[in-house]
Amino acid sequence: MIHVFDGADDLLPALADFVVAQAKEAIYLHGRFSLVLSGGSSPKKLYELLVTDKYRKQIEWSRVFFFFGDERYVPADHPDSNYLMAKKALFDPLDLSPGQIFRMKTELEPAAAAEDYEKDLLGYFSDKPVRFDLVLLGLGDDAHTASLFPHTAVLHEKESLVKEIYIDKVKMFRITLTAPCINQAANVAFLVYGASKAEAMHHIHEDAQNIVEYPAQLIRPQGGSLHWFVDQAATQKLTNK
Ligand code: 6PG
Repeated sequence: MIHVFDGADDLLPALADFVVAQAKEAIYLHGRFSLVLSGGSSPKKLYELLVTDKYRKQIEWSRVFFFFGDERYVPADHPDSNYLMAKKALFDPLDLSPGQIFRMKTELEPAAAAEDYEKDLLGYFSDKPVRFDLVLLGLGDDAHTASLFPHTAVLHEKESLVKEIYIDKVKMFRITLTAPCINQAANVAFLVYGASKAEAMHHIHEDAQNIVEYPAQLIRPQGGSLHWFVDQAATQKLTNK
């Protein structure tokens, strides 16, 4: 489902309401809410909104468990760290207990960090399938999402839940949830705004399936819901909105 808004200023509150609704439902159904955070620049404002009085009061934050869709292979205190961005915008203002935050440990070797994170996921879900309540995703101008970049081997991963991948384009390793892992989620929500995303949105939604060129096409939750929270600028090249 594509939800189109004039701009980020009305898109973000709507997505924050969606997060609140999913949190309440998950906590009601199974006592806790597993939320996968997206990295990049677009979600920072959403995280900052969620800690404002209006939203802060609506969620039992002690029952929320935070995961990451991907991480840049930089130290946790590095300005490019997705963890650091979320820590400043969300974790610190909410004063969460450390057990609620599942960080990708970039102090380990890339493969070891991916393996370690997969163990964390299996540990959190124990005997149940790894099925996040809500996965938040961004979208790159090149139609990548999480760290599922065009023309990379991880796009064809069928078994692992988490993989390390060297991305030539950004000259660094990334640790990322795989598409099979994301597609096990109960809900997936893309957060996409700005004209620079319009070309990618057109290809993803209106071109034939070509996951190597447009990796975001891989995101098809099996038995879960898929939502696109987008603004007018990002949908300007869609022929049928
Ligand atoms: C990352 C992200 C990545 C991001 C897109 C969009 O670590 O960079 O997880 O997938 O969502 O690159 O980034 P922007 O929101 O900055 O445009």
